[in-house]
Amino acid sequence: MSAEFSFALNAIDGPARTGVISTPRGEIRTPAFMPVGTAGTVKAMLVDHVRATGADIVLGNTYHLMLRPTAERVASLGGLHKFMNWPHPILTDSGGFQVMSLSKLRKLTEEGVSFQSHIDGSKHMLTPERSIEIQCLLGSDIQMQLDECPAIPIEHDKARESMLLSVRWAERSKRAFEEKSQPGQALFGIVQGANYEDLRRESLDKLMEIGFPGYSIGGLAVGEGREEMFRVLEFTTPHMDGAKPRYLMGVGKPADIVGAVARGVDMFDCVAPTRSGRHGQAWTRAGAINIKNAQFSDDPEPLDPSSACPASRDYSKAYLHHLFRAGEYLGPMLLTWHNLHYYQELMAGMRAAIAAGGFSDFVAQFRAETGETIV
Ligand code: GUN
Repeated sequence: MSAEFSFALNAIDGPARTGVISTPRGEIRTPAFMPVGTAGTVKAMLVDHVRATGADIVLGNTYHLMLRPTAERVASLGGLHKFMNWPHPILTDSGGFQVMSLSKLRKLTEEGVSFQSHIDGSKHMLTPERSIEIQCLLGSDIQMQLDECPAIPIEHDKARESMLLSVRWAERSKRAFEEKSQPGQALFGIVQGANYEDLRRESLDKLMEIGFPGYSIGGLAVGEGREEMFRVLEFTTPHMDGAKPRYLMGVGKPADIVGAVARGVDMFDCVAPTRSGRHGQAWTRAGAINIKNAQFSDDPEPLDPSSACPASRDYSKAYLHHLFRAGEYLGPMLLTWHNLHYYQELMAGMRAAIAAGGFSDFVAQFRAETGETIV
């Protein structure tokens, strides 16, 4: 296994790409979906089951882990991989996005973001340097710069000011990373600029000048809608370094992901399969269903009889319906497992289709099966 971080493209089919990211902790096949393991656990899942769905990498969160159990404690216990019993690659988000969405009392300055914990009200400060220090204490393989992610709509001059702050934080993050990181770890820059073409371009040019081994696209899926998100991708990804992985942060539903792969994106993370699974929503080849609906109370069929996933294959919809109605823990566990497997199968299907030069047929079939119109 390589001691370096690297990315190799195996095939391209239109803007869609398939390849492999190599890290000292293992390979990540792209397009990749990263299950979200915010607090050191992919909620309601055993790590062996996460792995068996086909996940090569999971995501952890600086914000949650710095507050509880603290990065220093995780480091003293041997790092996040050992702590959560996941020896494969881990990507961590930098924390700024979660501060903005979870902490009520927060203040953003040039230095960083100060905030009160949503857990106990304690006061904390995240700077680009501290975020990198935490991500290094956790032992994260792919780290994110601290950034600001404004909501859309936002005025152009405000969006530019925010984007330029993120660029300055990218420079500071890179300096801190060069001091603190281990060989084979990687730091990604995050492209911001809301839905303005000139700002996305300026952000990207400045980040590429600083130089990163991969680039994230942030600031999307923040209320702009799928069509607008795709429009932003269409004027952003063509200017990105083709030799580096491209990661669309916090996206998305299956149709968002298929559409973004069609527009040149390689990596994704989203709470959708896990969070919706806990709430009774299951993705199937025919689109999404809510297992709590009365129509499933007598349905003897499993979610997918041909699936290799036990959760999809070995339990009837009627049983899953019953578990949710009865408030049993097993219901959220099985639906999370099923959804993660569905997502990983979707990614595997896209990788195979791109490698075979048949990605447009794959998209056409996805549209036909799910009834999704905007892909
Ligand atoms: N997760 C979803 N969107 C974003 C973003 O813009 N920045 C960061 N750091 N994380 C995200």
